[in-house]
Amino acid sequence: MDASIPLIEVRNLSKFFDTGHGRVEVLRGIDIVIQRRERIAVMGASGAGKTTLMHILGGLDHPSDGSVLIEGRDIFRISGGELDRFRNSTIGFVFQFHQLLPEFSAVENVMIPSLIAGNSSRKARETALSLLDRVGLSHRLAHKPGELSGGEQQRVAVARALAMKPRILLADEPTGNLDSRTSEEILALLNSLHESGDFTMLIVTHDESLARRQDRLIVMKDGKVAW
Ligand SMILES: Nc1ncnc2c1ncn2[C@@H]1O[C@H](COP(=O)(O)OP(=O)(O)OP(=O)(O)O)[C@@H](O)[C@H]1O
Ligand SMILES: [Mg+2]
Repeated sequence: MDASIPLIEVRNLSKFFDTGHGRVEVLRGIDIVIQRRERIAVMGASGAGKTTLMHILGGLDHPSDGSVLIEGRDIFRISGGELDRFRNSTIGFVFQFHQLLPEFSAVENVMIPSLIAGNSSRKARETALSLLDRVGLSHRLAHKPGELSGGEQQRVAVARALAMKPRILLADEPTGNLDSRTSEEILALLNSLHESGDFTMLIVTHDESLARRQDRLIVMKDGKVAW
C-alpha cells in the first residue's frame, strides 16, 4: 500500500436522477480527499445529497459522472461480483434505521458479512462474539432485533459494520433515531472503536455538537461541498 495515495479521493462527482417530472441534480461536482484514520462529520440540510454521497462512496449506487478512488482504485471500474467482495471487505455501513435482519439473532446478524466472505462459521462466530463484547452486548447474543432496544439494535449494527475490519466506516445518521442519551452512548462507542481501530470514519449527522467532536467537518449545500 502506497502511503502517499489518499484513502478516498472523490473527483468531480455528480449524480442526477431522471424522473417523470424532469431531472433532479443531487450531486453537482464534488471533490473530496480523505486520508487514513480521519474522522469526519458530514452535515447539510435535508435533501443536500448526504445519503446519496454515502451510497456512492460505499459503492451501493453509481455516480452519473466523476469517480471515487479508494486507495487509488476507481471502484466503479470494478466488475459486479468483485465490487460486492471489495465492498464487503473494505467498507462498513451503519444506517439510521439499523437494517438488521429480523429473523436472525444479534450474533447471527454480526456473523453474516464474514460468512458471505467465505469464512467458516466458527471463525465468523468468534469475531462476532468479540465485537458484541466490545459494544457491550454479550448478554443479548440470542436476541432478535425486535427484542432489542433502539440503542442495542444500533450497537449490533455497529458490530456488524466492523465484522470484516473495514478500512472505511460510513455511518448515515447513526443516532438519528435515538434519544439524546442513547445517541451520546453510540457516538462515544464509535469514537472509542475508532480510537483503538484502524479505519476512517464518516458520520452524517444533523447534530452540531456531535459534528464538532469529529476531526473535520464537510458541509454540503445544493449538491456541492460548501466547506
Ligand atoms: N431515486 C431518486 N430519484 C429522484 N430523486 C432522488 C432519488 N434519491 C434521492 N433523490 C433526491 O435527491 C436529494 C438528496 O437526497 P439525499 O437522500 O441524498 O439527501 P440527504 O442530504 O441525505 O437528506 P436527509 O438529511 O433528509 O437525509 C433529495 O432532494 C431527494 O429527493
Ligand atoms: Mg439522508
